[in-house]
Amino acid sequence: MSEKRSSFTSKLGFVLAAAGSAVGLGNIWRFPYLAAKYGGGIFLLTYIVLALTLGFALMCAEIAIGRKTGKSAIDAFKVLNKRYSFIGILAAIVPMIILPYYSVIGGWVTKYITVFVSGNGSAAADDSFFGGFIGSTTEPLFYFLIFMAITALIVLLGVEKGIEKVSKFMMPVLVIMMIGITTYVLCQPGIGAGVKDYLLPDFSEFSVNTVLGAMGQLFYSMSLAMGIMITYGSYMKKDNHIEKSVHQIEWFDTGIAFLAGLMIVPAAFSNVQSNDELSKGPGLMFATLPKVFDQMPGGHIIGALFFILVLFAALTSSISLMETIVSIFCDKFKWNRKLTCGIVFVGCLILGIPSSLGFGVWSHILPLDMDLLTFFDFISNSVMMPIVALLTCLFIGYVIKPVTLIDEIEQSGRFKMKKLFTAIIKYVAPVCIVLILISAVLDGLGIFKI
Ligand code: PHE
Repeated sequence: MSEKRSSFTSKLGFVLAAAGSAVGLGNIWRFPYLAAKYGGGIFLLTYIVLALTLGFALMCAEIAIGRKTGKSAIDAFKVLNKRYSFIGILAAIVPMIILPYYSVIGGWVTKYITVFVSGNGSAAADDSFFGGFIGSTTEPLFYFLIFMAITALIVLLGVEKGIEKVSKFMMPVLVIMMIGITTYVLCQPGIGAGVKDYLLPDFSEFSVNTVLGAMGQLFYSMSLAMGIMITYGSYMKKDNHIEKSVHQIEWFDTGIAFLAGLMIVPAAFSNVQSNDELSKGPGLMFATLPKVFDQMPGGHIIGALFFILVLFAALTSSISLMETIVSIFCDKFKWNRKLTCGIVFVGCLILGIPSSLGFGVWSHILPLDMDLLTFFDFISNSVMMPIVALLTCLFIGYVIKPVTLIDEIEQSGRFKMKKLFTAIIKYVAPVCIVLILISAVLDGLGIFKI
């Protein structure tokens, strides 16, 4: 990316590319299962509040850092203040943890496409299908390899323009399909209780873990705290209004997550409920949706189309993850792009193997009582990202000062929420993140429970 620090051709181009990175498995696969796990409505409410405050401020900040410096994460922090380039380095490690396990799930989606396209959708509706698949050794690894290879190929060819064009078409189709499927689900008998669970907050279910879960999900879903938005900001033109773009991305991203939750969570609690333990965690989408499709008229075709669109959304995100990693290595070690793509590809394959095997032959390895995929997800989302976000806020709040970024944002018009921005960056975010991290650690050690 660094050789050609081009800029996005249009405002829509920027928003679409950033939204393409933001909208992915995080919205469709991860959000619904976390919402189900952390008490539905209360999680939703916490998430939305965080998105409109912390998410908004951080995304504005990251894009502004990128646009001001014209650099990607590591160099951006270095340019702003040499002593703090370690924040950029920490941020750069996050996508390296995420990409491997993200691609494992991308592989699951690929497998589901083949199942539905070959007309075997009904088999996937069986309770033991998903567990049987991810519990095996070679099949998930094979599909993981395929997904990784597609990602690497696109990054290697650098067909960003093509992706932009296709997203303009695919994203709206995905949204329309999701609305259609959700409507169908909501018309099913006995769904009311599940919908209520999903929408109405039950404050007795609120805990520090709800906030930590929602915060991790926010960073993940909006592709924050890992330098991606800094890189994207560096491609943004000066007359592009950062605040407006952030609002658009934020609403789009949250809207899709909300819809995915509505499509999956109530169904999971109603007549299509699965008894399989796996379906309650990361497997929720894979266990629930095939059952919905199986009951639907024409469900096989809809299922096939749906998983193809999900694959597409996942690819636009995995590409942004891999592109970030590749550009970091290219910048740092001055390697050429082809070689770097090859190294990153092989590295991710190796790192992804534990996540893939964690549901089968390595299911006895349970760090912190989690399967390996959930463990990597936890380390990146609930540990690393809050730390990077905290350091970023402190850096902006007390080293370069918020006004530096406000000036940058105001280059293209008034920054309406600048007071809120300053307050969040300087006080609210650091205090909240520290409190949440401390209580999560204490909670994890069993010392203190909220
Ligand atoms: N935001 C993406 C999603 O919701 C995931 C992602 C995370 C993409 C980090 C890029 C970087 O699926």
